[in-house]
Amino acid sequence: MNRIVGTGIAVPPTVVDNGLLSRCMSTTDEWIVQRSGIRQRHVSPDTWRMLQRLAEAPDKPAFMDSVFAQGLDGCIDSSMTVTDLALEASAMALKAAGIRAQELDCIVESSTLPDLAYPHTGCVLQGRLGLTSTPAISLQQGCAGFVYGLAIADQMMRGGMYRQVLVVGAELLSSAFDYTDRGRDMAVLFADGAGAAVVRAETGNRGVISSHLHSDGTMIDALSGELCGSSTFPPVSKKKIDDGRARPRMNGRQVFVHAVRRFREVILECVEANGITLGDVDRFVVHQANLRIIEAVGDALGIPPDRFFNNIERFGNTAAASVPIALHEALAAGAIRDGDLVMLASFGTGLSWGANMIRW
Ligand code: UT7
Repeated sequence: MNRIVGTGIAVPPTVVDNGLLSRCMSTTDEWIVQRSGIRQRHVSPDTWRMLQRLAEAPDKPAFMDSVFAQGLDGCIDSSMTVTDLALEASAMALKAAGIRAQELDCIVESSTLPDLAYPHTGCVLQGRLGLTSTPAISLQQGCAGFVYGLAIADQMMRGGMYRQVLVVGAELLSSAFDYTDRGRDMAVLFADGAGAAVVRAETGNRGVISSHLHSDGTMIDALSGELCGSSTFPPVSKKKIDDGRARPRMNGRQVFVHAVRRFREVILECVEANGITLGDVDRFVVHQANLRIIEAVGDALGIPPDRFFNNIERFGNTAAASVPIALHEALAAGAIRDGDLVMLASFGTGLSWGANMIRW
């Protein structure tokens, strides 16, 4: 079976609590904690610097518009990229697995916002790892990125194509949000970070047992971002920025309802496919989108809260990075032990969702 033999994470050193956000937009610590369970999140140093200035700005929308149009102090290049985070998490996972990057057969990476429109972030990461011919695949699978990546890696390995694959979920999302009242529904939720895992083909009955993937492309308007997409000409324009179309959009209530429904369905599909019951699963490590979503799923399925491993309080929603970050922390905390049955599950833009069953 194909087993996760090393994990790693990376988050920017710069932390933003709900208090700072409350000085940038009309929100409160109480609102954010009650609605999402988030108390703080890590964001890139650029976003952190920007938020310090936004908090003091007398005209916040005008300040935010000028940042979108000209960058902070006229600087439009990021000092940290999503690949920086992916690289750090990957290096930690490789070290934990006891291998060098050169021993990888393939990289499967997922990020919502890439470093560049092209080439894809998997290739940028591969080069930064010092590799020159290892295949690199990028998924743009949103929050479900790691679950999809693990499924793809597992299937390629089951087919005998590869023996050792690096799966990465990495996000630097904070640069895209409007941190004024105009974007407060999303800006308080999402954050930056990366998680990685080395998957190795081994004999024995420990490893990925099954994966279950789904998408619903009729729901793209529920959670989308045009940014530099090919759906507009030119891809980036002042008009697009002025119309607010360059920023992410979300129908929070719609996403919430679908998240609870799809999590419920895929968790049941995963246990039924394996001929087991929910009570047989020792630990659920699910996408840290919103604590209320996780609680609603637990209530709907009768899963006790203590069987979920949650860390959203400290990291917010890091999209594709959230499941591997939570998995890494669950392992470090001793919340997953050898022999445990672990289910990973995620849901996000697409809409896309899925689950992996793993014998640890
Ligand atoms: O990875 C998957 C991605 N997305 C998600 O998981 C998000 C899923 N959705 C959610 O988590 C929730 O819908 C939110 C946390 C976004 C919002 O919670 P809600 O309980 O669904 O609130 P709501 O959308 O019903 O909004 C309630 C009010 C609105 O004001 P009015 O229209 O009732 O006057 C919002 O404008 O809360 C307002 N609001 C805020 N107030 C304070 C929206 N954002 C904020 C904010 N602070 N940050």
